[in-house]
Amino acid sequence: MSDIETLPADTASRYTIAADSDARAPKRKVQIRSFGCQMNAYDATRMGDLLEKEGYEETATQDDADLVILNTCHIREKASEKIFSELGKLRMAKQDRANSAAPLRIAVAGCVAQAEGQEIRRRQPAVDVVVGPQNYHRLGDLLRQADEKGSAVDTEFPVEDKFDHLIAPSRKRLAQRGVSAFVTVQEGCDKFCTFCVVPYTRGAETSRTPESILAEVRELAEGGIREVTLIGQNVNAYHGADGNGHDCSLAGLMQKAAAIEGIARIRYTTSHPRDMADDLIAAHRDLAALMPFLHLPVQSGSDRILEAMNRNHTALDYIERVRRIRAARPDIALSSDFIVGFPGESEEDFRATLALIEEVTFASSYFFKYSVRPGTPAATLENQIDEATKSERLARLQKLVDSQRHAFNSATVGRRLDVLFEREGRHAGQIVGKTPYLQAVAVDAPRELIGQCVEVEITQSGSNSLFGRIV
Ligand code: SAH
Ligand code: SF4
Ligand code: F3S
Repeated sequence: MSDIETLPADTASRYTIAADSDARAPKRKVQIRSFGCQMNAYDATRMGDLLEKEGYEETATQDDADLVILNTCHIREKASEKIFSELGKLRMAKQDRANSAAPLRIAVAGCVAQAEGQEIRRRQPAVDVVVGPQNYHRLGDLLRQADEKGSAVDTEFPVEDKFDHLIAPSRKRLAQRGVSAFVTVQEGCDKFCTFCVVPYTRGAETSRTPESILAEVRELAEGGIREVTLIGQNVNAYHGADGNGHDCSLAGLMQKAAAIEGIARIRYTTSHPRDMADDLIAAHRDLAALMPFLHLPVQSGSDRILEAMNRNHTALDYIERVRRIRAARPDIALSSDFIVGFPGESEEDFRATLALIEEVTFASSYFFKYSVRPGTPAATLENQIDEATKSERLARLQKLVDSQRHAFNSATVGRRLDVLFEREGRHAGQIVGKTPYLQAVAVDAPRELIGQCVEVEITQSGSNSLFGRIV
């Protein structure tokens, strides 16, 4: 087994394709189960890349796995507690295999690992490794440490940057990546919304260097990726500095990424309304590769609640920001996140949220019942809202958001849109891709079109996807 290869000190040259691992070496298998947001999905891919170097190949099933990694999410109580029931089941599987030739090892990564640390092993001693989102570049060492000492926990925020130590995908893994990929450009958050655990689980806001990001995008493009989504907890707070000390904003970064051969489409998520800078809004007008879809969470339409959430803007600020974005790119489609039942939310506050949705109109949205998160300021507020009221408000919100989504999808019927085909569909002869507005479209067409942008006439709008024909 080889040691983790740490790559040389300047990041641009670092992102070189890893040599394919020795085919003769007996492979162990790892199952990585990822929960939560796109950043966890990205981290899972990078863990897979580096574990390949450690002699593992990925498997989709637990039964043939030597190692199971739960890449966890802490954002709401349900997500977080679910992990402990998963761990209970894994403990049984581990016990069953204890004396077999293939024992099972269990690792917990992601945001629950960061938030709970040692507590995870106290609640479930069957866990071998606990590793935080800023430490998973040390996974190989931690697994060896667990072999020697019985367990390993690493959730200290490290002085080194994990991106300097991660490993580029092998050609084999790159070939499995498909057409569209996430790339983390910014991580962590300094905004401290009063309901949110992210500043505690992902740490302070940091941006990767443009060189490191662009090197990664270049490799992905060479491997067949056509669409990159630049991700960050606050992606539009991105503020990189290039090797010459010049500042680089998200807009500047996207311009450079768009110039990379093979990259046809660029997206970014998740943005904070306060960080929609002028040059970013202008990019929606000027940068052809930037897709006209923006996820811009507002959480609530009530100024009183927005203030209690520490969002630092009013409902009108949001609406005016949207107006400016639409002036730059009239066809842009928007989506948002909403929280219902934040402490103290009155019927009137909730109606203000509905009114904002009516006014802005969204192509789609995500909505959540407020979930008390230990250690966050809102957890200790009085006037917590009862479950029945939360459920009732959630249902009303869902109805409005659904009707807007249907209206948006129906309005594309009859239009001709560029579709980037990503994969085969459910039926033989069908392929599936995405419109610029992030809608899934199924078309009867040859699979050779996967990876290409093709003009499609939308013929029908179903409940979850559109149907169309090649023009
Ligand atoms: N950085 C992004 C959001 C990250 S978390 C932003 O600022 O918008 C993703 C979503 O989860 C949030 O937008 C919010 O709607 C929801 N969320 C976060 N904490 C929550 C909580 N305690 N209860 C319910 N929903 C929550
Ligand atoms: Fe959480 Fe607010 Fe930061 Fe988004 S901006 S990650 S909601 S604290
Ligand atoms: Fe969840 Fe962590 Fe993402 S808490 S939403 S996995 S940043």
